[in-house]
Amino acid sequence: HERRPAGRLQVLFPFLLPLLYPALCEQIRYSIPEELAKGSVVGNLAKDLGLSVVDVSARKLRVSTEKLLFRVDPESGDLLVNDRIDREQICKERRRCELQVEAVVENPLNIFHIIVAIEDINDHAPQFHKDEINLEISESVPLGTGAILESAEDPDISMNSLSKYQLSPNEYFSLVVKDSPDGSKYPELVLKKTLDRETQSSHHLVLTAFDSGDPPLFSTAQIQILVVDANDNPPVFSQDIYRVGLPEGVPPGTLVVKVSATDQDEGFNAEIRYSFLGVANKAQHVFFLDSATGDIITHQPLDFEEVERYTMDVEAKDRGSLSTRCKVIVEVLDENDNNPEIVITSFSDQILEDSLPGMVVALFKTQDQDSGENGEVTCSLSRDTPFKIHSSSNNYYKLVTDGALDRERTPEYNVTITATDRGKPPLSSSTTITLHITDVNDNAPVFHQASYVVHVAENNPPGASIAQVSASDPDLGPNGRVSYSIVASDLEPRALASYVSVSAQSGVVFAQRAFDDEQLRAFELTVQARDQGSPALSANVSLRVLVGDRNDNAPLVLYPALGRYGSALFDTVPRAAQPGYLVTKLVGVDAYSGHNAWLSYQVLQASEPGLFSVGLRTGEVRTARALGDRDAARQRLLVAVRDGGQPPLSATATLLLVFADSLQEVLPDVSDHPEPSDPQAELQFYLVVALAFISVLFLLALTLAIALRLRSSSSPAARGFFGSALCSNSGPEITPNYSEGTLPYAYNLCVPGDQTNPEFKFLTSADHFPATQDTLNKDTLGGCASPSGLLPSHVLSLSLSNK
Ligand SMILES: *[C@@H]1O[C@H](CO)[C@@H](O)[C@H](O)[C@H]1NC(C)=O
Ligand SMILES: *[C@@H]1O[C@H](CO)[C@@H](O)[C@H](O)[C@H]1NC(C)=O
Repeated sequence: HERRPAGRLQVLFPFLLPLLYPALCEQIRYSIPEELAKGSVVGNLAKDLGLSVVDVSARKLRVSTEKLLFRVDPESGDLLVNDRIDREQICKERRRCELQVEAVVENPLNIFHIIVAIEDINDHAPQFHKDEINLEISESVPLGTGAILESAEDPDISMNSLSKYQLSPNEYFSLVVKDSPDGSKYPELVLKKTLDRETQSSHHLVLTAFDSGDPPLFSTAQIQILVVDANDNPPVFSQDIYRVGLPEGVPPGTLVVKVSATDQDEGFNAEIRYSFLGVANKAQHVFFLDSATGDIITHQPLDFEEVERYTMDVEAKDRGSLSTRCKVIVEVLDENDNNPEIVITSFSDQILEDSLPGMVVALFKTQDQDSGENGEVTCSLSRDTPFKIHSSSNNYYKLVTDGALDRERTPEYNVTITATDRGKPPLSSSTTITLHITDVNDNAPVFHQASYVVHVAENNPPGASIAQVSASDPDLGPNGRVSYSIVASDLEPRALASYVSVSAQSGVVFAQRAFDDEQLRAFELTVQARDQGSPALSANVSLRVLVGDRNDNAPLVLYPALGRYGSALFDTVPRAAQPGYLVTKLVGVDAYSGHNAWLSYQVLQASEPGLFSVGLRTGEVRTARALGDRDAARQRLLVAVRDGGQPPLSATATLLLVFADSLQEVLPDVSDHPEPSDPQAELQFYLVVALAFISVLFLLALTLAIALRLRSSSSPAARGFFGSALCSNSGPEITPNYSEGTLPYAYNLCVPGDQTNPEFKFLTSADHFPATQDTLNKDTLGGCASPSGLLPSHVLSLSLSNK
């Protein structure tokens, strides 16, 4: 260290000191480094002051100072360091650091100013304010961006002060020391490579500050750099394409798939929202996408048959606006959820009953929207129907007849076609078609009875229904519509129509006239029932009509006929007749035929019972035994003739039997009876009387006419009338030309048809009244009725009868 000797200066008088002071300006200067150890010698003060060693103690050399940084060694007079001298403490940052020290001596008192310059030593290292520096740098900052760092401080000065910084080696940052306007220096971190939080989210650096001392001192600070996230990464889906197979039967709300995207950014930048991309299509109605979780959930029931596959684009977007997309493909898996369908493409519901087996009745097809086995369909038919299924190609089927059809037995069939698929479990559906069998005229009418017998009372009113035949025909419509007709009878063909008719519709048989038992007892008709099919079928039945069922006619005895006035004729029997001799045969008739007409003969009274027998049915009168001597020659038999009616009616006949060998024997008996008057003579008598009466009337009328003419001969009108009548008439006078209409007399002779009861009638048949002729009752053919109530004065009726 520098030690400069003080200038020579004698302090003679203390009072002169102030005067002398400037003379003493040449001060003693010492220079010492700071931080010398205690007791270190700064300099030999005594010598520098010109004092002897003896004087040091004798004159009590000492230093006066506020701080006892120095002391004087009394022995040697050296200025010693008495305390720690820290330049930084004493002088702060001043470059010159000098301490003023006063050295005082006594005897005589004298004061010396001493300057001790304190020199810096490198006793301080540069110091950072904080050991650790935390920085947050966004990863997105551009290259070259700087981050100012805190500078370090070194209280030392000049060479010993802070001189440089150093950064731990790294690839991202470099260090630049910059000057601040105040002349200080500060370090700055400069980005030399782009940060990526996703690669390295933090960096650790060490900053070292050096001074230039010798040896240099340094200190370090830890720099923690946190890379702040920037939204520099788009979300990334875990898969580009999500493929899911989903059974179509899943209920709405089923989780289909969870799409998941990750974003390497963090925090806000990594918050992802999911959404469907693109225009809303069907898939977006069917599925619901949870925008936060990425869950895709069914929203509606799925139907494989409708859509087999859904394709959706899903976008994942972070809160920045980076996004990515992925595809979600949902394959709907078929389940057997569709019943097979039967589609009748054509069918003829009208089938002729005579159709041959194998005739195609219907065409149908099956379809099942399911696929695979779920869509494979088989068909079956309801049992017990005469139909079967023929499979043709492509799920097309034919329904054909398989057996004989009969409309009358089964008029319609409900054919149920069942289609079943082969799913597990199988589904099926069925359709029923109603097939109507149409009629063919294959059934003939059938009469309800094998034959008909009717009894008709005689004198029935004409037009009365006497019977009804009926036949049924199970066929339909015209094929079963039966009409009746009479095709044959035992009546005369031309007369048939006047006897009976049959109603074609109802089968009612009408009598066309009043039957008379006596004329017609029975007749037989063949009634035909005929349907209206084509060709028509028919059936015949016989109808027997018995007239006179009412037993109102007693039997009539034809033989023996009663003699005139009720007396019976007689039969002669040879006296020698053997038993069993056929005497005579009673002949009775009954107007009816049949049972009523079954006559029986019985002897009611016999003058000699047992002599004669009468055949009950034959009416034969036979001798029962030979004639005895006591038997009378004349026998009388009263025989009853009964019919079989209910109640039976009977007639009696009286037989006069005479045993005689010749007719002469008998005659005297017979001539007892008066001669009956001759009916022919009676008739002639009445005719003569009638003719005479008419002649008299005619003459009277003629005479009256002539008299009237003569009396009124002057009247020209009357003369003209008669004159012209007489002159113009060339015929006989008694038969004038009645065409003028003055005398409408005409004569008509009616001859009765019944010969057994002859009757004659004269009556006028007035041409002017033709209607009256129609009123004549033809049933009373026994006589011609006169229209007596209409023209009484013009009618002259003469009836001659032997009654
Ligand atoms: C067929 O079905 C119809 C309608 O259900 C029914 O009225 C008819 O009686 C059925 N026919 C037969 C023969 O079963
Ligand atoms: C019915 O009778 C008519 C006339 O005798 C005959 O021509 C026809 O063949 C008969 N019909 C039947 C089905 O017997």
